[in-house]
This record gives sequence, C-alpha cells and structure tokens, in this order.
Amino acid sequence: MTQFWRLTTQADFALLGNVVEHLDAVGLEAMSSWSLFDEGDIARLDLIFTEDPDIEVVRATAGFPAEMELSCAPMPEEDWVRLSLKGLKPVEGGRFTLFGAHDRDAVADGQIGIEIEAGPAFGTGHHGTTRGCLIAFSQMLDAGAVPTSILDLGCGTAVLAIAAAKALPDAEILASDVDPEAVEESLENCRKNETPGIDCFVAEGLDHAKLAGRQFELVLANILAGPLVELAPGIADILTPGGKVILSGLLTEQEAMVRTAYEAAGLSVHRQPPLEGWETLVASKT
Ligand SMILES: C[S@@+](CC[C@H](N)C(=O)[O-])C[C@H]1O[C@@H](n2cnc3c(N)ncnc32)[C@H](O)[C@@H]1O
Repeated sequence: MTQFWRLTTQADFALLGNVVEHLDAVGLEAMSSWSLFDEGDIARLDLIFTEDPDIEVVRATAGFPAEMELSCAPMPEEDWVRLSLKGLKPVEGGRFTLFGAHDRDAVADGQIGIEIEAGPAFGTGHHGTTRGCLIAFSQMLDAGAVPTSILDLGCGTAVLAIAAAKALPDAEILASDVDPEAVEESLENCRKNETPGIDCFVAEGLDHAKLAGRQFELVLANILAGPLVELAPGIADILTPGGKVILSGLLTEQEAMVRTAYEAAGLSVHRQPPLEGWETLVASKT
C-alpha cells in the first residue's frame, strides 16, 4: 500500500499559481500531484508526496519564500488508499451492486453484483468517486454504448474493470495501477468475480508497453486531480475517435481545472451531478 504525505501552504492565488507552474516545469522528487484551491481571499496549495519530503528542499526547489509557513503530515489512509471498512453494507452505483462475502444474497434482481472485500486497495464502492464512475458508466450502457476496448487506469480493487467485464463480457479490458499491491488485489478480485480475462498490470499513468500505440473506446480514470490534469493529453491520444473517458477523484473546487485540461486536449466535457463533494466528468473525443 502506498503511504502519501501532504505538504500544505496558504498564500495569494497568483503566487501559488506561479509555484505550481514552476514545479510542473522543474519537477520535484517523489511528488505525485498538486491541488490548488481558491478559497476566497487566500488560496491553499497541497503537494502530495509518495515519500516524507524534506521541507527545505521543497522550499528551495519550488521557490517558496523563506518566511512562508509549510506544513507536512502523512495523509490519513482513508484519504485515498485504504478504506478499512469491515462489515460494509452493499452499495449500489447505477446498475451495479457491490457487496462483501457476507452479503452475497443482497443483489436485487436486475442488478449486476460485484464482490469486493474491504482491503488495502481503494475501491469498495463506498466512495463518491467510485459510485460516480459506476453511475456514469451505467448511463452510457443505458444509452446503448457497447465499447469493445476499455482501460481502467488507477484500478485500485479493479472494481470498475470488473463492472465493465460483467456488463460487456466480449470487451477487451485492461486494468493498471501504480501500486503493485493494488494490482495483486485486482487479480484476486478478478478471480473471485469470475472475470479472468481482465489484463491487470502495474504502470504509472500511461507509461507501459501494453499501452504504447494503443487506443481504447472507453477509459475509466478515478485517480487524483493533479495526475488527471497531467494525463489529459495522453488520455486524449489513447481514445479512439468517438471514445470517452470517465474521470473522477476530483473535488468540486478542482472541477474547473480538470475540465479545462481535457477541453484543451480537444475533448468535450460533460459534468455529472456531484456525489458527496466529489465530481465525475465524462469527456468525449469527436
Ligand atoms: C481513488 S483510487 C480509485 C480506485 C478504483 N478505480 C475506484 O474507482 O474505486 C485511485 C487509484 O489510482 C492509483 N493511482 C494514483 N496515481 C496513479 C498513476 N499516476 N498511475 C496509475 N495509477 C495511479 C492509486 O494507487 C489508486 O489505487
């Protein structure tokens, strides 16, 4: 499981905007993403790291003024990776019902059941981002879409890939995650859900031989706002003409930033109703 650290600071929006632009240009070791929140008079910048960062190195690299207060702490595990939820109740997202082994009988007629146990990887369905993706995917299916090639990027438990495999048994489905432990859990969940055809592998973003030169009719990407922005041009490239990407993992205050990135990459973006403060976007390539 990946432990993340969040370094936070507050300042004028323009100053922080310059910092992130600079960071995007120079890079910062072990920084996986950033999020900039416009909170009225003052803005807040969160930098997310996969290792405990040296604050003074970050200050020097980012060009934060010496007097600016920077605080850093490990992120609560439930922020992104671990939902340590035992005895979870079944949860519905569109035409899918997610349940633990203790609730195998809880799937209503007409619903597609997915068995996912609470574990180290993210994606039991009890989170607005996962449900937002499942609802958007269900709506696509209701509208008659039958994508034949699907990539679940940042698969966590592989819940979205499994949903796709159950709804569209003839589709080719790939599922990738930067966290090897999530991929192990994905493989176990694919076995449990009798969806062995899903190709699960470790990859950071789109950086993998299996993705090189490929195009997909549907990409499911529930990651974080920062990586989603970085990945926008790559995801736009990897979509077939007419292809769609379902994006989640973004808070309402990050919606405009992510939307702008995907529009700039040439996609048209539709905003789904937010769920518990989490946004889901469906972006289409014409
Ligand atoms: C919010 S969870 C989503 C899990 C699952 N897809 C769902 O909808 O519940 C995000 C997942 O993305 C993975 N991730 C984060 N950054 C990534 C990146 N750059 N490339 C691939 N996976 C990434 C994390 O390890 C985590 O498992």
